[in-house]
Amino acid sequence: MIKYLARTTLTPLLKHIPTDRKWLRPFYQATQLQVKVSPYVSPNLPAAFSGLSLAYAADIHYGSYLSQERALEVVRLITRLQADLILLGGDYGENAQTAEAFFDLIPRFPESTPVLAAIGNHDHMGSGANIARLMAKMRAKGVTPLRNGVWHLKREGRTMAFCAPDDILAGFPDFTPLINGTRTADFVVFMPHSPDLVPEAKQAGLRFDLALCGHTHGGQIALRGRSLYPSSRYGDRYRMGWVNENDSDIFITCGVGTSVLPMRVGTMPEIHRFNLSSGNSLRAGEAFTSSPAVSSLINCA
Ligand SMILES: [Fe+2]
Repeated sequence: MIKYLARTTLTPLLKHIPTDRKWLRPFYQATQLQVKVSPYVSPNLPAAFSGLSLAYAADIHYGSYLSQERALEVVRLITRLQADLILLGGDYGENAQTAEAFFDLIPRFPESTPVLAAIGNHDHMGSGANIARLMAKMRAKGVTPLRNGVWHLKREGRTMAFCAPDDILAGFPDFTPLINGTRTADFVVFMPHSPDLVPEAKQAGLRFDLALCGHTHGGQIALRGRSLYPSSRYGDRYRMGWVNENDSDIFITCGVGTSVLPMRVGTMPEIHRFNLSSGNSLRAGEAFTSSPAVSSLINCA
């Protein structure tokens, strides 16, 4: 009901609210994109991949609440992180139409940097949704969509696999190609749009070392660390940040944009660069939570 009212009545009004007035705190906060650079230390990571860097961004939600200028600035910031790989976590627009418009808008990513992308629930949304056409537009911009797909990186005879299922809410996730494609990999990065697929993946028998997820927006409006309206079937179990379950490290980003309301309370928009290294000195989750993560704060309004 809240979502329906927001889309039909509130969105046309709320999209005109200025986001550069600090006293309109929830609206202002929704545009204050943080660029976070963090170490990721894992004993499971082969030494061949020590020094590898991953840029990660999800939930851009281009459309009513995120302008062309901001979308282009987000892509510029992701590229400026100069990571070895760029990973995108889905929900590129507020619906399928704006997801396509996002990939029409942005420049082609540099050929030297592989860009891998999951599909989110909003990418399937709307009467004109055409996921094949969206994926064609992604490829035209140098992006490899992983929809129940796997991509391999090889170094010194070792293999790192990146895999993503289709979305749990609006798509058709299939773990079989992911299991088959990652079976012999030395390190597996699982990239579902929604963290709700993490338990399902484990149950299906997918082995992964690191999961990078979006979808929750950190709750988007979170009071005292609790989501007002959790978008996960698991409530706040995967709201944001690091979770370690069954020897897998799971990271849930707060994402870039917003949906339903152009507001954030108790969460900030963020993109990430993870600098990977193999080692036993710290458990992976501890390495993240103890590090000074925020390298800069950039106004992306
Ligand atoms: Fe989202």
